[in-house]
Amino acid sequence: MTWPRASVLGLLVMSVTGCNFYYNTLPSPDDAVKLVPWFDHMVTSPAVHPYQRWDIPRTTVPGTVPVTGSEGEWGTGNPLGVAPTYGFDVAAADGIINPTDLRAMLAQGDTLYQTFCAVCHGAAGAADGPVSAKIGGRSLLTPIARGFSDGYLYSIIKYGRGIMPQYRDKLPSPAQRWAIVNYVRALQANNSNGGND
Ligand code: HEC
Repeated sequence: MTWPRASVLGLLVMSVTGCNFYYNTLPSPDDAVKLVPWFDHMVTSPAVHPYQRWDIPRTTVPGTVPVTGSEGEWGTGNPLGVAPTYGFDVAAADGIINPTDLRAMLAQGDTLYQTFCAVCHGAAGAADGPVSAKIGGRSLLTPIARGFSDGYLYSIIKYGRGIMPQYRDKLPSPAQRWAIVNYVRALQANNSNGGND
């Protein structure tokens, strides 16, 4: 009577471990789902705190209006080859007040500037970056660049100008752009020789 006992034991083992050894070797739909960082409905999950980070999609609280969230548009397009090629309305740009302290976010501004700007404008803004000469990247230490308003600097980052590309897609948060503005101001303050002119 040992055979039936063995099969009973076998059935018991299978019922405990499951007989899905074959399916375990197939990719799970969960693996595909995990590739998507965010689903809209996730903000309703109790585990998600939508105000923890700026990049979490969130809906407006009913009955409220955003006071700092979205910003207006003052872009005018950036047609290549048409001079002067402004990517934005200069008067509107000059009317924008820097909402941050000029001494704020300098470490972040340093990192972002070295990542996004230094290649064309030089590590310290003197137009000595690897492709500055080839592309016509200008010194940010000239009297002209010093004379730009904070709003103008912010706008040139957001919309680009001439062959300088726009960075609104690469730097989606206004705080990131203001961090760079503040950093450029710090470079100008620390380099009093006026750059290359
Ligand atoms: C691909 C190269 C390139 C990159 C990267 C780049 N720029 Fe420029 N930038 C230019 C060029 C070229 C001009 C001149 C545009 C023109 O002729 O209107 C310019 C012009 C400017 C000016 C105006 C200077 C003047 O004297 O008129 C400022 C300010 C500026 N860039 C800031 C930045 C900042 C801040 C970043 C980083 C977010 C950045 N740029 C990234 C190429 C670049």
